[in-house]
Amino acid sequence: MNRKLPILEAVLLITLTSAIAARLAAEEESPASTANLDRQVNALLARMTLEEKVGQMCQYVGIERLKEDWKGEKPPTTSDQIPMYPDLTFGALDNLVRQGKVSSFLHVTTPAEANRLQSLAAQSRLKIPLIIGIDAIHGDGLVIGATIYPASLSLASCFDESLEEQIASETAQETRANGSQWTFAPNVDVARDARWGRTGETFGEDPFLVGRLGMAAVRGLQGHDGPDANHILACVKHAIAGSQPVNGLNFAPTDVSEHTLRGVFLPPYLAAFKEGVGSVMTAHHELNGVPCHANRWLIEDVLRREGGFNGFVVSDWMDIEGLVGVHHVAANQKEAVYHAIMGGVDMHMHGPGFFEPLIELVKEGRIPESRIDESVRRILRAKFKLGLFEQAQTPLGQAAEVTFSAAHQQTALDAARKGIVLLKNEQSLLPLDAKRFKHILVTGPLADTQATLGDWVTPQPEQNIITVLKGMKQIAPADCEVSYYDCGSKARTTKPEAIQEAAKQAAVADLTVMVVGENTMRFDYADKTSGEEVDRSDIELPGNQLALVQAVVASGKPVVVVLVNSRPIGSEWTMDHVPAVVEAWEPGCKGGQAVAEILFGLVNPSGKLPITIPRSAGHIQTIYNHMPSQNYRKYILGKTEPLFWFGHGLSYTTFKYDNLRLTGKIKSGENVTVTVDVTNTGKRAGDEVVLAFVHDVVSSTTTPVKSLQAFRRISLAPGEKKTVELTIAYDQLALFNAQMKRVVEPGEFEVFIGDLIGKFTAL
Ligand code: BGC
Repeated sequence: MNRKLPILEAVLLITLTSAIAARLAAEEESPASTANLDRQVNALLARMTLEEKVGQMCQYVGIERLKEDWKGEKPPTTSDQIPMYPDLTFGALDNLVRQGKVSSFLHVTTPAEANRLQSLAAQSRLKIPLIIGIDAIHGDGLVIGATIYPASLSLASCFDESLEEQIASETAQETRANGSQWTFAPNVDVARDARWGRTGETFGEDPFLVGRLGMAAVRGLQGHDGPDANHILACVKHAIAGSQPVNGLNFAPTDVSEHTLRGVFLPPYLAAFKEGVGSVMTAHHELNGVPCHANRWLIEDVLRREGGFNGFVVSDWMDIEGLVGVHHVAANQKEAVYHAIMGGVDMHMHGPGFFEPLIELVKEGRIPESRIDESVRRILRAKFKLGLFEQAQTPLGQAAEVTFSAAHQQTALDAARKGIVLLKNEQSLLPLDAKRFKHILVTGPLADTQATLGDWVTPQPEQNIITVLKGMKQIAPADCEVSYYDCGSKARTTKPEAIQEAAKQAAVADLTVMVVGENTMRFDYADKTSGEEVDRSDIELPGNQLALVQAVVASGKPVVVVLVNSRPIGSEWTMDHVPAVVEAWEPGCKGGQAVAEILFGLVNPSGKLPITIPRSAGHIQTIYNHMPSQNYRKYILGKTEPLFWFGHGLSYTTFKYDNLRLTGKIKSGENVTVTVDVTNTGKRAGDEVVLAFVHDVVSSTTTPVKSLQAFRRISLAPGEKKTVELTIAYDQLALFNAQMKRVVEPGEFEVFIGDLIGKFTAL
């Protein structure tokens, strides 16, 4: 018998035990440790009255924003009524904050206002700081002067997680410096209906891509260890599946099988929970008959218990009220509050009409105070983590340092360059040969507007924005004349005379660049064609833009169409008749420069579509990751295939894939390693996005014809070859079986990468 072993074991045990003890002690001492946080939260909770607790669940719109609705000749005084909250005066709202009856404001856009509100909260008995939230989706866009990065769909086209994280982290810096500590982002809805005006706020149609980018966004916004004093709280939204509304309209019901819900819409949320996202926003609509704001199964069972989400749930804008007025599942506001709170909502967005009914419901014993305690714990925890109890005031001067800094502008430009997708390029019309095209006409309603900035953006200072026209003028070689015909700058209407004039000017130019598409500018109510509550029954170019394109093409001179838009544009005619089409999406504050650099060949396009572009609204739900039977039959008239599939995107160079190698067999807990050589076979340097799709060859329930499971963006010099290694975890092969259990079924799987196919077996 080896007598040395027990001694060795004992030594090991002692070392291990003291290591664990030391770690636990360190955790205990660390102000940010879980135990410490719980202690602080519980100690505070124990001192709170019911009114103070319910106050922590209340949010209001920022007072300066509320004043914008004021119609009086002079600025409102404290005794004037708030137009949005007619039962409250401006002074009364200040007092609610002083009384500790307000936990949060949203849409506060200056540090000065944020600090004023925080000092009101500091006058309350317990001095609990406010958490201020804003829609900083792709930059802190509601703040004037912020860096506006490309919109989410453009960012998804970059297929670049570290870039997404970088943008989110810069957004966090700008947001915090401007007075907010919470953003209602990222939007991790999986887009499946291009009529829906919010498609551009998403990362597209693939659950894996949406999940990975959602995780990167959460890391960037919150930091790697959850939110802290240098970051902001993230909020994944909108739970869940509102991106597939029955008729394409925001708010409309989503009727979706549990199979699709769990297989398509839920995974990005679960991914964000793994990353520790601190809040979730519930969605406006009803899910399979139960409004999301009163859906206990969704919030408590699926998101919290199964998904492990432990942050707080905020309602969406007046959606608790919507349980009465929109969904008719509650007879009055008090019942709506009851259903929302018992459904799992923790904070009300926004206004009066919540505090009193909730107090009454607790006093009547219908809602236990322990339920209120749960919500308050979650909210206080976030405030502690964000360091608000140490410092609620935003240091003045910080905003000027970080907002629209040179470094942030550079990131916005890099992202625009990577996210633009070259859809079509017949006879290599692009890049433009400046010797051949000495006079270029730029026209189209979106050539010189801020539509390139996308949604959730306030009008920005002109000098901060490079429109496509500005970019063309800036980048064109000296001997190339760029002229502009302003055909009206409206997405919805182009006058017939303007169409004629554009065609006339195109006929005398060497080439025309037409900037057409959609207007998502949040506050341009009279003209916008996409965005929140701006859905369409059609996905053709809106207004008479198609007629404009047709007239200019009829001039006989070459035409390049640049699309500025935030959802797939199903313009079959344009794709068939225009030789070169560039999908610029909404490329942000430097977007026009990136477009021009691509047109003139200074930058090689490398974006890939994160969403399929269907031919028409009738083709909606044409998604690349469809079930095998979806395209088994074809439409009797016209084509069934989309204009472009997910993953499409051309380059000015060519890439060759070869030497695909795969792990042959894997068991649970292991990974498949996919290795492939990619060579730049052209004459220009370029980036390639390598996409690895998987197909389960035979499965007990149907699985998509292919689904993305790994991706990587690489840069290659002309002639350069790189070996790319991607991994796919065993768990990624799972499906939901007929018993709705998530399992990996042993058997054969195919991998598609470039034009190559490989196989492996799951044991
Ligand atoms: C939108 C949310 C947004 C909220 C606050 C709602 O109308 O649906 O996405 O975060 O407003 O602005």
